[in-house]
Amino acid sequence: MNELDKSVVICRCEEVSYEEIEEVIRLGARTFDDIKRLTRCGMGACQAKICNFLVANIIHEELGKPLQEIPLPRMRMPISPIKLETLSTNSKDFSTVKSVLDEVEVKDGEVG
Ligand code: FES
Repeated sequence: MNELDKSVVICRCEEVSYEEIEEVIRLGARTFDDIKRLTRCGMGACQAKICNFLVANIIHEELGKPLQEIPLPRMRMPISPIKLETLSTNSKDFSTVKSVLDEVEVKDGEVG
């Protein structure tokens, strides 16, 4: 990872760059959750499913901490996006609930 350009975006959902993560580690962040609180990295639509491993690698390289000792980011409910309708009706039939992301239309690279 040291060969990456510092402007490379690590968290695509929240547009957090390698450089920003490196900076908060320099300021004292030691875990993914520390980095999350300071940069919003991991708070995007994928809930760190994409950036988790990349951030763990940066922590590993910057602090020399073994990867297996770096805790996973803390998860909060709901784990995946669900409709407000499901929450408001107290529905327990989650198997029929579609993700809100399933309803997003993308045309020519733009969200419609
Ligand atoms: S890539 Fe970081 S939250 Fe989605």
